[in-house]
Amino acid sequence: MVTMTRPDVEPGEARRLDRATADLDPPFAVVDLDALDANADDLLRRAAGKPIRVASKSVRSRAVLRRVLARPGFAGVLAYTLREALWLSAGQDPVSTDVVIGYPTADRAALRRLADDATAAARITLMVDSVEQLEFLDAVVPASTRPALRVCLDLDASWRTAGGRVHVGARRSPMHTAEDAAALARAVAGRDGFRLVGVMAYEAQIAGVGDAPPGRPLRGVAVRRMQQLSARELAGRRAEAVAAVRAVAPLEFVNGGGTGSLERTTAEEAVTELAAGSGLYSPGLFDGYRSFRGRPAALFALPVVRRPGPETATALGGGYPASGAAGKDRLPQPYLPQGLSYDPNEAAGEVQTPLLGRVAASLRVGDRVWFRHTKAGELCERFDTLHLISGDEVVRSVPTYRGEGKTFL
Ligand SMILES: Cc1ncc(COP(=O)(O)O)c(C=O)c1O
Repeated sequence: MVTMTRPDVEPGEARRLDRATADLDPPFAVVDLDALDANADDLLRRAAGKPIRVASKSVRSRAVLRRVLARPGFAGVLAYTLREALWLSAGQDPVSTDVVIGYPTADRAALRRLADDATAAARITLMVDSVEQLEFLDAVVPASTRPALRVCLDLDASWRTAGGRVHVGARRSPMHTAEDAAALARAVAGRDGFRLVGVMAYEAQIAGVGDAPPGRPLRGVAVRRMQQLSARELAGRRAEAVAAVRAVAPLEFVNGGGTGSLERTTAEEAVTELAAGSGLYSPGLFDGYRSFRGRPAALFALPVVRRPGPETATALGGGYPASGAAGKDRLPQPYLPQGLSYDPNEAAGEVQTPLLGRVAASLRVGDRVWFRHTKAGELCERFDTLHLISGDEVVRSVPTYRGEGKTFL
């Protein structure tokens, strides 16, 4: 199995992390604030002046969201469920008063709460991509009984080529063309109880696919070509769709992009704001891009609990694969000390993870092994606390969503 290494890791990085967390007993998760802040600055640089809406699924901690949103340049949240949006926007000190939910909802109880709360209804924007969803919303909370619901149209940003036979990108919205967008905009405008405020188009095949995958140069060439063609096609279609929707309703925002596409998406005039989240923690999946290099900011530590052989150290727990098509690339990366790899028969296990490599010989029972998750926010579903490190100390410990009893997905 491939050993994942980052050649740019500072010597002494493992010692610094160990020193900072010397009083903690693993397993635990940390966020390195210096790395997080540097990553946030770099996202802003790449956004080149357009505001970044923070993708909360990739953060999953209210304290971290607040820290990022306190930086000029970040504005609003791209949430992932209505329950989450209600929570983030509630009360006198909300995480944000501008929460767009990036995905459609069919949560009836949460919709009733939204319809009963004029403040929430003014702060939250729902995502729709079809008339069927509008009908669902009307059936659950009839227009006559609710404040106007803010809605955003989700434009499909995938790339359809070879006469529609090849589909590249996420399977999101059925609304693909400017005509589709105009038709849905008219359907929204023609119904009572809705306010059309935005358009969103997320180009997963560009923002979420690394164009320089480590050790796979040919794939890199193919990805770059695909992204070039797809970006060109999308820029024209997005501009047309936005113009068609603007002819029906004055829009407050047009959201696009993600961590991997900021510089490209911001160049499109039709786009008024960007979305990003993963780049803050900079997990393993985001190592393979040419245009940026984040600093690993979110890590977890496991304890070494036994030594089955001279070059094997077994850590407790560790089986935290990321979502997506199952494969080795979904496993956490053993990060520090560098040079450890998984046992191919066990990989990252439910209760134990044997780690192989010469460096394992130097590990003793009670030592830590540091890992990076493949994705960003999912790490927070495994831990209730994030210990925030600056320099070589823990400066604060804050809850994840899970630590606040919130498991939205
Ligand atoms: C709608 C939408 N926008 C933006 C993003 C980008 O988020 P991130 O920067 O965390 O990759 C995503 C991620 O899946 C998304 O679903």
